[in-house]
Amino acid sequence: MDTVTTQRLDSPTEAARLLLAGGLVAFPTETVYGLGVDATNPAAVARLFTAKGRPSDNPLIVHLAAADQWSLAARELPDMAKRFLDAFAPGPLTVVLPKRTEICSRVTADLDSVAIRIPRCDLARELLAAAQRPIAAPSANRSGRPSCTTWQAVLEDLDGRIDAVLCGELSQVGLESTVIDCCGASPVLLRPGAITLEQLQAVEPRTRTWEPGREGEGNTAQPLNSPGLRHPHYQPTAQVLLFESAEQLSELFAQHDTALAVVTCQADTRQAVADLSIEHICMHSHIDSTEQYAREFYELLRQADRRGASVVLLELATEAGIGLALRDRQRRAAAK
Ligand code: TXA
Ligand code: MG
Repeated sequence: MDTVTTQRLDSPTEAARLLLAGGLVAFPTETVYGLGVDATNPAAVARLFTAKGRPSDNPLIVHLAAADQWSLAARELPDMAKRFLDAFAPGPLTVVLPKRTEICSRVTADLDSVAIRIPRCDLARELLAAAQRPIAAPSANRSGRPSCTTWQAVLEDLDGRIDAVLCGELSQVGLESTVIDCCGASPVLLRPGAITLEQLQAVEPRTRTWEPGREGEGNTAQPLNSPGLRHPHYQPTAQVLLFESAEQLSELFAQHDTALAVVTCQADTRQAVADLSIEHICMHSHIDSTEQYAREFYELLRQADRRGASVVLLELATEAGIGLALRDRQRRAAAK
């Protein structure tokens, strides 16, 4: 693909103008940075898939300035979806709805459904309000790599491949939105995120997680419909290995004598790193709150690469709250 000059912007109206002209513009959200494109412009959408190196069967989320604009992207708002949006929009939630024909078929990978999200981050809302058009935006990283929570990380992956980045703050949540399919008889959680299953069940008790082999029970969430679950994701150049105890960590130390990055989240594993004083550790970060671990997760993976680690040893997060979503990303980062 041709190299372009990537502008650094601080004005959301300037960013919106570029989007409406068919540009690729990365922007901050409270979850991770997104790479925006006009969802009604097929040529621009095609360019986005090339810039990211994204498989064409992985659909994009359409971002809107407010929940009452849902009809820009969807042809129907099922009651359960309305209740989720009332409870959690704007915020880190994506709902999958029946699609409107104006949204390019490439955006939705030829599915009859469309995912919509209303971000909470001020700059994102100003950008979307100025654009007044549905903006498709995957996470602003090269496909397969860790997502980006800073504009500098976006440039690390996409400088010269996109038209601009709207420079904002560090993403506050740090992990991608919860995705919930509302096209079937009952809601199905496709991707865990900051809005937890328990929070969704408090709004709609029939909400359940997607399980292979359970499709056909009144939901549309077949494996084909949630391709984000299939492709490699969140992987730094370094190999990622997980551990859950100080004992497992010592075993990993014994097995790997190359440059190591280590992330701990419990007192005993932190102590184990100090006690063993391994020379080839090029980075050790200790994080004790799960929320902070989620916020810093992708940046930690990227830092490990910047410091030349060949292996990243990651302590699995505890399951409570956003921990479930973090564990999901940790497992995918470590998948072969
Ligand atoms: O927090 C987020 O959601 C971020 C920010 C930028 O908003 N975006 C994001 O986009 O994570 P992406 O492209 O990295 O992930 C989109 C996810 C994928 O798992 C995809 O399969 C799923 O949403 N998805 C999109 N459209 C869908 C649809 N029609 N049906 C089922 N899943 C869909
Ligand atoms: Mg992504």
